[in-house]
Amino acid sequence: MKRRAFARGPVLSAIAAALAGCDSRWSALVPAGDQAAAIRGVWDLMIAICGTMYVLVLVGLAYALLRRRSRAREGTARDPAIVAALVGWVVLTLGLLSWLTAASFLADRRLRDGRGEVSIRVTAKQWWWDVEYLDPIIARNFRTANELHLPRDRTAHVELRSGDVIHSFWVPSLSGKHDMIPGRVNALLLTPRVNGYFRGQCAEFCGLQHAHMALDVQVEDDAAYRAWADRQRLPAVAPTDAAAQRGLVVYERAACAICHRIGGTPSGGRVGPDLTHLATRRSLAAGTLAMNRGNLAAWIVDPQHAKPGNNMPAVPLTPQDVSDLVAYLSELK
Ligand code: CUA
Repeated sequence: MKRRAFARGPVLSAIAAALAGCDSRWSALVPAGDQAAAIRGVWDLMIAICGTMYVLVLVGLAYALLRRRSRAREGTARDPAIVAALVGWVVLTLGLLSWLTAASFLADRRLRDGRGEVSIRVTAKQWWWDVEYLDPIIARNFRTANELHLPRDRTAHVELRSGDVIHSFWVPSLSGKHDMIPGRVNALLLTPRVNGYFRGQCAEFCGLQHAHMALDVQVEDDAAYRAWADRQRLPAVAPTDAAAQRGLVVYERAACAICHRIGGTPSGGRVGPDLTHLATRRSLAAGTLAMNRGNLAAWIVDPQHAKPGNNMPAVPLTPQDVSDLVAYLSELK
């Protein structure tokens, strides 16, 4: 599909924003990728067919009412043309319904049939996204969390798994939603055509913090994507200033290292998100808080405040420890 097909995006986005207070980064009606465009195509076809049928039914109703009156005056009871019209109507309805079914089936196939040039495995957990970028050379695999980076005009094959309950992967601007079911591997293709930030959201109720299970999606040029991926593959840089150096000690001494991993340190926990390049991410706690020092400190001191019920415990730390830890985590670029 050509890029030009997506040029109407900004116009529709402005209309959507004006009408519904919506943001096009959340809207399935402003496609930014081939798969979302296929779904938009089915939507347009449904609106056209159903709208036309609605108008035809109203015209038929008006005609029947008017004719009924004149017939009553004439005193005749039968009209053979009515039978032919009814048969025609049934055939038309069946034909249009078959058309919609076929269009919907073909659009659905486009969401998942094909090969990807980038391979990503997303595992949903209560309530965050574990993201692994897979490479034919296993040493080049890397892991991040709550964030996808995708190269524009290339197809990503996204493997969808769940680590606990049923979740659903949905980035409305890029594709349809697909369930993530424990013990099952599903897949979706994403072929973004527009650079920018889009938002994904878990679309299946999965517990207390289902609403706080968002995914940041960044679409960028191939070169920018490759540069990002190469940086993600590197281990974390050793802290340089004194506070951050103390922060690393706090990280390893407190409970953090049991659940989290930071590449280049001995910590290798897999229970919580990989923190190797935490400071490069857009948000904290699966889209719940903006990434900045203040939120990072608030999150560490009381994780249950922003996201009650999540699995991160409040680790007892002195204010100095928190400050040092935040200084260290903020350096994880
Ligand atoms: Cu995960 Cu809702």
